[in-house]
Amino acid sequence: MDETLHARIWRGQAQGSFKAYRVPRRQNQTILDVVTYVQRHLDPSLAYRFACRVGMCGSCAMTVNGVPRWTCRTRVAEVVDGSGVEIAPLAHLPVVRDLVTDMRGFFDKWSRAKGRFVGERTRRDEFAVVKPDSAARVAVDAGIECIGCGVCYAACDVVGWRPDFLGPAALNRAWTLVNDRRDTAGRDRMRAVAGDAGCHACHTQGSCTTWCPKHLAPTAAIAGLKRVTAKAAMRGEL
Ligand code: SF4
Ligand code: SF4
Ligand code: FES
Repeated sequence: MDETLHARIWRGQAQGSFKAYRVPRRQNQTILDVVTYVQRHLDPSLAYRFACRVGMCGSCAMTVNGVPRWTCRTRVAEVVDGSGVEIAPLAHLPVVRDLVTDMRGFFDKWSRAKGRFVGERTRRDEFAVVKPDSAARVAVDAGIECIGCGVCYAACDVVGWRPDFLGPAALNRAWTLVNDRRDTAGRDRMRAVAGDAGCHACHTQGSCTTWCPKHLAPTAAIAGLKRVTAKAAMRGEL
């Protein structure tokens, strides 16, 4: 193992440039460790975002050697190219500064896709019973562990081509709610995701599913949305 890692890190905003840093290699070092080393020892003005460091919060995603990744769980040894690594902000989002992107557009789309649970029970009602082995519950469980990291969004070509596309994470969230028997906003949500910038804009190539660090499958969720919205349209329900 080389003793020194040559890290090129994006500095500035959209018009910035890469700056080179020499970082000591460590056993099991992550990309987030590299960025943290640079900020603590070489350049305290470097801006980046993280919170949990254990793959829970979704805030540390960056572009590493051209690929979107959660950096707290990405070891340098997995991605190093020779003795170097290039670290940039996530694609398809405005850069606030250095490695920090503005996630508002990403989360606004969750709202546009009606990604909020709408129930009808009160705290005085009995708990709903949803059998763990029912098909709907299995579909919900398959997509529910999303941490909102934006990796899939940055990996999606269609988001790059047409910025109004709702994107894989928002559509994956919508699919979990379409399958949630307790939710009451089904028709509104189906209309929201069936529109021009919704599920039918996805070309099913699967980059989102390839790179999702939680091993979710937004491509499959979107295929489910395509099926149910097409059926609903044929029945005149949209
Ligand atoms: S499968 Fe669809 S949502 Fe996923 S990356 Fe491709 S176009 Fe984007
Ligand atoms: S679907 Fe996966 S990649 Fe996309 S935001 Fe959720 S956890 Fe991140
Ligand atoms: S810091 Fe929370 S997921 Fe990486």
